[in-house]
Amino acid sequence: MQTSEKSDTDIRFVCRGTFVHSTAEEALQILEDALLGVDSKGKIAFIGEGKDLQKLSESFGFCSSAVTQLRQHEFFMPGMIDTHIHAPQYSYAGTALDMPLLQWLNTYTFPVESRFQDIEFAKKVYTQVVKRTLRNGTTTACYFATIHTDASLLLGQIANDFGQRALVGKVCMDRNDGVKYYRETSEESQEETYRFIKELLNKKYPLVKPVVTPRFAPSCTETLLAKLGEMAKNNKLHIQSHISENLKEVEWVKELFPNSESYTDIYHKCNLLTDKVRAQSRLRFTKPLVKCECLHKIRQTVPDALQTIMAHGCHLSDEELVLFRKTGAALSHCPNSNISLCSGVLNVRNVLNHKVKLGLGTDVAGGYSPSILDAVRRALDSSKVLTIQDPEHKTLSFEEVFRLATLGGSQALSLDERTGNFKVGKDFDALRVNVAAPGGPIDLIQSEKPQILLEKFLNLGDDRNIVEVFVAGKKVVPFSEP
Ligand code: GUN
Ligand code: FE
Repeated sequence: MQTSEKSDTDIRFVCRGTFVHSTAEEALQILEDALLGVDSKGKIAFIGEGKDLQKLSESFGFCSSAVTQLRQHEFFMPGMIDTHIHAPQYSYAGTALDMPLLQWLNTYTFPVESRFQDIEFAKKVYTQVVKRTLRNGTTTACYFATIHTDASLLLGQIANDFGQRALVGKVCMDRNDGVKYYRETSEESQEETYRFIKELLNKKYPLVKPVVTPRFAPSCTETLLAKLGEMAKNNKLHIQSHISENLKEVEWVKELFPNSESYTDIYHKCNLLTDKVRAQSRLRFTKPLVKCECLHKIRQTVPDALQTIMAHGCHLSDEELVLFRKTGAALSHCPNSNISLCSGVLNVRNVLNHKVKLGLGTDVAGGYSPSILDAVRRALDSSKVLTIQDPEHKTLSFEEVFRLATLGGSQALSLDERTGNFKVGKDFDALRVNVAAPGGPIDLIQSEKPQILLEKFLNLGDDRNIVEVFVAGKKVVPFSEP
């Protein structure tokens, strides 16, 4: 039994039934007839066994008749984590998948993103994407917005209003010859990033934080990359970007940055590859360069901050993966996008063997689905394609991919002290799954064991099976009436 130290904890609710989750040791751990209590702060207060109901209700002071009992074909799993999604691109998700990356960006992406100067349009799309992802079980999302500061702040507000845990990035790009009207000057990009961070932190949203977001090396000058690296380092902020998604992109980066040893080296030289473990020792010796009293103070209350997450990495060399491991930077695997834009196939097994942190991403709209369940299936398919090409390749199991969608994502975003699995003291971010939901996509022929129920849900399920979604102990799906 796991319990928090204090038994005077105020219990908000208690659930009893099957809980499935991942730990460092086990990709899938199943807790049958478990009892889990959530305290008034939305944190997990205890995890015990059903047979201990009486003892737990006495020590935690809750009424044993008020326990929510799950049914046989139901289980709780950790909320899923989308480590890479472009919120504005949700407006054209499911279309425009007929070109490779660089043409796709110029033809579809940049013209659409430029529309987000219009705050009403932004409000409509951002409300839809937050609701759609929550309904599909994404309790944490790491969002790219656009270059527009006010619309990006609005995305943070909407995620907060609907109760989604989110990292939100105002996109930075001070070069874009393809679509010249969609870019900033270097100064604008720096000043607006600073304003975005300051204003978002000032809102003190409990679950929504800013992330420094250079779009990718080809759309940023080295000066801008270095300034953003400095800003992130001195203020302990998350960083996100793209890396080695497509071979033409990799070639282009070589031309644009002839003095760098590799794509990864460019970001590394600009202090854009990091995690909080490595940063903590460095921070003792550095002073914030961005001098702002309030930013400095608020920073102290953001214990999870500082982690780099790079999307894709399909074409990284082993040397580059070693640099990821050394710096603690993480990768977001976006298999739907990688296939849809014919970008490449990431060898996840090789990334894991290099002990690089890795989560799953939808990469809407390069990936056409906003659901992490789809990312799970595409990740399994991609791994099988590698096995077809090389029978020696060790295919990922569904349990391993389940871990990537939950605990792996939380580690890749350095949010694993708060979310990712069921541990006492973590926030209760969870999905109540009914595999036999009436009108749903799954027929159960007989009673099945929890492992089979999870496998069926991952392969066949959809939002009809996700009957409730909790973030930090608050029920956020079904949506409450405004
Ligand atoms: N590289 C730079 N920008 C983008 C983007 O919006 N989507 C994807 N998939 N790759 C990118
Ligand atoms: Fe992307």
